[in-house]
Parts: sequence; C-alpha cells; structure tokens
Amino acid sequence: MKIPEELFHIEKDMLKDVKIFPYHLFVYNPSNGSYTPFLFANSPLTKDKSDFLEFILNKGGELAVDMKQKKTFLTSSELEEQDIPSLNIETHELEKSRDLNMANLEMENATKGEVKLKEDLRSSLAEDNFLELITRVKNETMTFSVRKSHTVSLASYLSEKLLNEDNFINRIVAISYYMAKNCDMKDEEALSDIICAAFFCHLGHTQLDTKLTHTPHLEFSESEKKQYRKHPSLSHHLLKKSGVDLSQRCMDIIFQHHERDDGSGYPMFKKGEHIDQLSLILGAVTHIFEYTFGYVTGTKTDMITVIRNLKNKSFTPGLEFEFGDKIYESLINLLSTDTVDDAA
Ligand SMILES: [Fe+2]
Repeated sequence: MKIPEELFHIEKDMLKDVKIFPYHLFVYNPSNGSYTPFLFANSPLTKDKSDFLEFILNKGGELAVDMKQKKTFLTSSELEEQDIPSLNIETHELEKSRDLNMANLEMENATKGEVKLKEDLRSSLAEDNFLELITRVKNETMTFSVRKSHTVSLASYLSEKLLNEDNFINRIVAISYYMAKNCDMKDEEALSDIICAAFFCHLGHTQLDTKLTHTPHLEFSESEKKQYRKHPSLSHHLLKKSGVDLSQRCMDIIFQHHERDDGSGYPMFKKGEHIDQLSLILGAVTHIFEYTFGYVTGTKTDMITVIRNLKNKSFTPGLEFEFGDKIYESLINLLSTDTVDDAA
C-alpha cells in the first residue's frame, strides 16, 4: 500500500472500543521518521494486533490516519477537528506558499495546457529561446514538498531564485529535468537530485586555472586535459567541505557526470549499470550544450547540426554518443525535429 503524502496523528483512545474502522491506520516510527500501514480499513483489530499496537506505542510510535480520510475518521469517531491536536498546528509559511504555487500551476496547466515536451522543445530550438521551458520547470519545482528532504527543498529554492532567465546553466537544468521525467524518473527526490546536480556539477571549475575554462576542450594538451578532468572530483569535494546537506544520489550524479556507458569517461572509468542513469542524463545534456556553445571545438554549432550528427552517429571531433541506449534514444527522440529529419 502506498504511504499517503499527508497524514495526521491520533491518540489510541480515540479509537474507543471499536474493533473495525472505515479508514486505514498507519503507525509512525520516530527512530527513522517513516510511516507504515498498520491496519487496513474494515479489517478487525484482533487481540494480537491490539497488543502489538500497544507495544509500538510504548516504544514511542504513533498512530496516524490519511488526511484524505479525515472526514470519515471524524464522523465515525464522533470527534470534531478541534479535538485532534495534530489537525490544529498552524500551517508554516513555506507550506502556505507551496499551496499557492500549486494553485498557480494548476491554473497555468488549465490555460496553457500541460507541457508537451517534444513540441515545446521544437519551438525552443527554432527560436533559440528556452525561457518558456525554464519557467515551467521553475513553476513545477516550486510545488515540491517542503518536508521531504534538504535536497528537495534546495532544488525548489534554487529554481525559484535562479530559473528566471534563458542562460547556459538554466538550459541544462531544464532539459535535464525533462529528460529525467521522460525516462520515467518522476519522483520529487530524483528530480531534485538532478536539479541540484545540474546547478552544482561545475563548481569545481572555480578551482581550475581560468585558462582551462576558456580553452576549447579539443585544444587541451595532455596535461591540461588531466587538470580539466579533475573538475567532477573538485565539485564533489567543495560540496562535501561546504557542509551543504545534499543526498548521496545527488553527490554521485555530480561525481559521475563525465562517466560514459562504454567506460570511456572519467574519473572512475565506470561502465553501464555502474553509472547512475541520472548521471548519464546530466552528462548528455551538459555535453550537448557545451558542444553547441563552442566549449568543445571553439566554434558555436547550431543544435540542429549537433542533433543530426548525434542521430546519425557521424564521426565529429569531440562529439560523444556513449550515454547508454535508453538515454541516447530518448535524447534523439526528444530533440529530433523535422528540420533534423529533413537534413539527415
Ligand atoms: Fe563537467
């Protein structure tokens, strides 16, 4: 059974002497902050179950009910909302603004329609303007839970503060986010992991000689290449030292964003399933934008040409393909336009 997103706590004596309830009961484990189903609606609270519940409560556990079943609970237990302390906690400011953001997003989806990724990407590419997509990511992210984790809250905060213009990094954040969703990684935690990783993966550039970050990658000498390849580890190290509370997965994505499916990447030469899919997504998206902006060859290349070369796997100096079949196909499918097909 799926754990509801919102529950409220109740006292055991609110169950009175009843043995069957028209709502599900959950128990809260304070040692790890998790909830688990305890008794399904219309199942009897047997003596064994009742004893076990007593044991859990004595260990500091608590009983909880799905917020969606609040009315059923209040009616069947003949209680009023004000009798339940957990229903009378004042809503935090962040939750109030999240509620407002959710209402705004609903209205935006109703007026503009949900994001049609392929179509929207096509017009962003045609106009060379990604602001509309970037803004949609911001608006979606600002509805994320304010209670899930530091990384989820940070993703939401960074999006609110930074996703306000069409620039290189915001394009990477937005397209990585939609690529993850398109590859069925839709939960808030995974999406927040890739958002924070996209914002932070190049923090390590700040520790490199500035000449390196202004030299096209194809012009690196062997020692410059070696230096530049330290940036994933440097980003990881800086974030660790800073004490910012990022999830392990987010840190892994940052560390692995230059690993490639066939083992040709760095810093650990990982292969296939040893690389997080989100790292491959971030790696693919950063690579494509770096290529189009001229960071690889020294010359800007339009996105249509890059996608066409990716699609045809044409040998093009500095252009990488090894992002794994799933990511590669999703990327080609999403970014291919009629123009690319015509030119192919
Ligand atoms: Fe990088």
